Amino acid sequence: METCYAIDFGTSNSLLGAVNPEQDFGQIPIGIEGEGIMKTILYAAESHQWFFGSQAIDEYLQQPTHGRIFKSLKKFLPDQSFQRTRVFQEVLTLPDLIAKFLRMMRERANTHLDQDVQRVMLGCPARFSDDPTSHELALDRLKAAAISAGFTEVSFCPEPIAAAYKFQPSLEKEQLVLIADFGGGTSDFTVQKMSQQPFQDKDVLAMTGLSVAGDKYDGAIMEHFVAPAFGSRAKYKRPTASNVSHFPKGFIRKLTSPADLIMMSKNSVLQNIRDAQRWLLDPDDEERLENLVLLIEDRMAYALFREIEQTKIELSDTAEGNFSFSYDPIDVRTQVTQDAFEDCSAKFTSEIIGCLDRCLIEAGLKSEQIDVVCLTGGTSQLPFIAKQLRTRFGDKLTTSSQFDSVVQGLGVRAQQWLRTGV
Ligand SMILES: Nc1ncnc2c1ncn2[C@@H]1O[C@H](COP(=O)(O)OP(=O)(O)OP(=O)(O)O)[C@@H](O)[C@H]1O
Ligand SMILES: [Mg+2]
Repeated sequence: METCYAIDFGTSNSLLGAVNPEQDFGQIPIGIEGEGIMKTILYAAESHQWFFGSQAIDEYLQQPTHGRIFKSLKKFLPDQSFQRTRVFQEVLTLPDLIAKFLRMMRERANTHLDQDVQRVMLGCPARFSDDPTSHELALDRLKAAAISAGFTEVSFCPEPIAAAYKFQPSLEKEQLVLIADFGGGTSDFTVQKMSQQPFQDKDVLAMTGLSVAGDKYDGAIMEHFVAPAFGSRAKYKRPTASNVSHFPKGFIRKLTSPADLIMMSKNSVLQNIRDAQRWLLDPDDEERLENLVLLIEDRMAYALFREIEQTKIELSDTAEGNFSFSYDPIDVRTQVTQDAFEDCSAKFTSEIIGCLDRCLIEAGLKSEQIDVVCLTGGTSQLPFIAKQLRTRFGDKLTTSSQFDSVVQGLGVRAQQWLRTGV
């Protein structure tokens, strides 16, 4: 009997489930310590020597300056400008890199089940990008990665719809449900009619999504509390210029995006800061910019963002969090309050809530007409996101397992595909 994998290839976390037409094997423990959830991190320690998930992080922390680490690769899928990157002797395209991760998942699951599975139901965001061409590019690249990982039949299911498949059986009568999946890279929403009856495409009343989620909140902490210690607010004045200059917004955007800063080369930093370094108004910024160059040259950006993410997660439970990062001579320590974090990231929260509101508008419904709101994804734990949703939906809010509802729903969808051929 044919087996099909269900893969939630997440910006931050990835999971794999397996089903055949009659049986759901559930999540397969693909992590090195038998865990079902793996961080979507790749690390090349040497040429052709790759590590994944927590093992990639351990290897990186042992020798960060030597190898190459990749995080949030999914973010680049709709980005035409990401073509290829050199990793030791290998020149790799984005599908090549993602294929390494998917192949590892497939092979570990194959070993676990003692089968060679070639069919996969892959999750994808509601919208990789607002631009339909970029969305298609992202799907094409993800499919190419899956094929290069050894799959011969690939199908996609939008992640928020998958989360709904998982949620469905708990409903007793037909209801209007809003599913909200706040992940690491994207926030995705659907409004659907749901009942005990098998789910059909026409039950999806609306679906929206945007590339603003957990990584952007890490970026907000970086921009407001950490990057200034690396000279991000440096002011400079060229002798011929009449105005004081700041770093261009595009450069600051890259400095504050985990995926981009980790990919940034020393040459690119030097190019961006060359002018500023010569004409700085505050001499202290010289040392700050040297620290930035050191951070990139010694490939410590991932280690820095790891600490930032820890602080963010701490702030979901406490009113005040501590951030510290040391790498001689870099030493950044600061306190971040939940209020200050909420304020500095308010722009992202309102973009996300605006996208949720658009989903309701597209469905032709008001928030009062929604019967149940199902929250999922790691970023749903941010207290101010939950607060906004409570204000809108009150006790209609329920939480679905934050990290595995998508993979479980993809499994249900995969089984339907095996049984019906569509
Ligand atoms: N307690 C917490 N408070 C706030 N954020 C959290 C918490 N725990 C995890 N996160 C964040 O949740 C995100 C990961 O969530 P999740 O695993 O749902 O994303 P993903 O599925 O990998 O991403 P995507 O679906 O966007 O591709 C990360 O940004 C992580 O920092
Ligand atoms: Mg997800």
